[in-house]
Amino acid sequence: MSHTITILPGDGIGPEVMDVALEVLEATAAKFDFQVSHSNHLVGGAALDATNNETPLPQDTIAACEKADAILFGSVGGPKWENLPPDIQPERGALLPLRKHFGLFANLRPGSCHPSLTHASPVKNELIPDGFDVLCVRELTGGIYFGQPKSITELPDGDIEAIDTMVYRKSEIARITRIAFTAAMGRDKRLLSVDKANVLQNSVLWRETVIEVAQDFPEVELEHMYVDNAAMQLVKRPASFDVLVTGNLFGDILSDEMAMISGSLGMLPSASLGNVKDNGLYFGMYEPSGGSAPDIAGQGIANPIAQILSVSMMLRYSLGEAAAADAIDAAVQAAIDSGLRTGDLFTGAQGETKVNTAEMGAAILKNLG
Ligand code: IPM
Ligand code: MG
Repeated sequence: MSHTITILPGDGIGPEVMDVALEVLEATAAKFDFQVSHSNHLVGGAALDATNNETPLPQDTIAACEKADAILFGSVGGPKWENLPPDIQPERGALLPLRKHFGLFANLRPGSCHPSLTHASPVKNELIPDGFDVLCVRELTGGIYFGQPKSITELPDGDIEAIDTMVYRKSEIARITRIAFTAAMGRDKRLLSVDKANVLQNSVLWRETVIEVAQDFPEVELEHMYVDNAAMQLVKRPASFDVLVTGNLFGDILSDEMAMISGSLGMLPSASLGNVKDNGLYFGMYEPSGGSAPDIAGQGIANPIAQILSVSMMLRYSLGEAAAADAIDAAVQAAIDSGLRTGDLFTGAQGETKVNTAEMGAAILKNLG
């Protein structure tokens, strides 16, 4: 089997962790006997620098992504580009247009805390004796992020008004809900839908639609929660949740909360998927949940695991190489079990060995055999 992927390393720690992740990809390709052809393209600050601040998303980057089975993304952004006009900043000018252009409406963000890493979680450890494992399914191409009109206008009375519009179609809610129910079927068969149906019309439609879709998944236990309450319950009893589905804005906020309480932002991958194809696979973009971490960029100390697990998600959802994905997951787990810790996870406890990016990568490669 031969696959084509487009690599967008981006900024900050992106290129460093991408190098390690690509070594892991190549090792699994050799072991599981498939080919991956990949080419690097510019995105984010790196693209702004190369185009004299013209664009963070050059046309040839989009063209390369269009020809690929998947996009493997590093991270974008950093202080250097923060004062540019918002429309060409790396996040708004590259990340959001990529999601929209490729119709990547389903954002899967695992937020898990392995029992051996609960010490890194800010949640009181007695509340999570066995860690936790939640999957956040966030709608990614609708809602208040993209609704029109959007404006900042000066009013006749001299005051200034800003408008963002929150729009959801029933069809958009239904398709993300199906993805979430399907994910729940492959896990613990529990789904939490998060909305603000006591205030927002969008959420009234959201809840109605989720209840309708639920009829096709009678085995899944469905619960609804207002977003403010969900934010509280997540820090209080994360282990009681399985899959969570919500809209774009709430998902943005709750997925950061989940990443924080997992204690290991450097471990969390994510997948942004479009419609399922006839072969059961998805075009998708895969990226670490953490950002470009400019504070530690260039030092070779970043945790490469989020990027490596993003490779695993890509193998699973876009390339149909589930055995290779399983092998990567197991190799990562074995590295953690053997006590290896990059700086973000290291506490100095007995049995821990502090390692850098390359050393963690080498250990995972070795575990792959
Ligand atoms: C994320 C990020 C983006 C978002 C930003 C950078 C536009 O926070 O992927 O969660 O809000 O979606
Ligand atoms: Mg976010």
